[in-house]
Amino acid sequence: MAITSSQSGTSVHEVADGIYRINTPVVFANGAGFSFNQYLIASDEPLLFHTGPRRMFPFLREAVASVLPVERLCYIGFSHVESDECGSLNEWLAVAPRAVPLCGTVAALVSIEDMADRSPRALADGERLSLGRHTVRWLDAPHLPHAWECGFLNEETTSTLLCGDLFTQGGADLPPVTESDILGPSEAFRQRMDYFSHTKHAAALLDKLAATRPATLACMHGSAWQGDAAGLLRALAGELSV
Ligand SMILES: [Fe+2]
Ligand SMILES: [Fe+2]
Repeated sequence: MAITSSQSGTSVHEVADGIYRINTPVVFANGAGFSFNQYLIASDEPLLFHTGPRRMFPFLREAVASVLPVERLCYIGFSHVESDECGSLNEWLAVAPRAVPLCGTVAALVSIEDMADRSPRALADGERLSLGRHTVRWLDAPHLPHAWECGFLNEETTSTLLCGDLFTQGGADLPPVTESDILGPSEAFRQRMDYFSHTKHAAALLDKLAATRPATLACMHGSAWQGDAAGLLRALAGELSV
């Protein structure tokens, strides 16, 4: 793991072949720790999944530049429209002239065609996009855990599910990757701050994600996870149904 900013504590760690987790820890005024992750797929056509909040942009730009030239980025992808997911989208588009936003059809229609400085590439549910060495597939997941436009990307060559806010873990000093339980910590976080919409379709959507049989869950907040991810996704469905 390489620290790329001593000021923000931002670090970079390769969690799967060519997939880098960029992590920035934060400690809030009340002492609670949290962290924000972006994932860089360093492929022939590089993709950054999640932009991070605008105030982190200088640190995240440095982190991406430690892996590849920022201007090589081709896609700036995100799960849904919130500041940590896509708040600095236009900043990234400004420094990466070839890049376009990458999102689901609802996000493109409702927000991004208007909010972004460049038109998005919108992916339909199940649609694949080749990045060269890697291939991503978009999976619509409306309202799971929140936002109508929500969806995830599955990177198929490494079986990495970029699962956004699912399995959000609190804390500012978690390891980059773990095989330990993350469902318990993420459920404890949800008890304190329930960020789920509780859509009645949650179980079916989690089953759709489980069907991709991920080897790595690239969580946006906390550690990435490796293990029987299909089982863990179905266990989350069980927790949500209680
Ligand atoms: Fe979110
Ligand atoms: Fe998030």
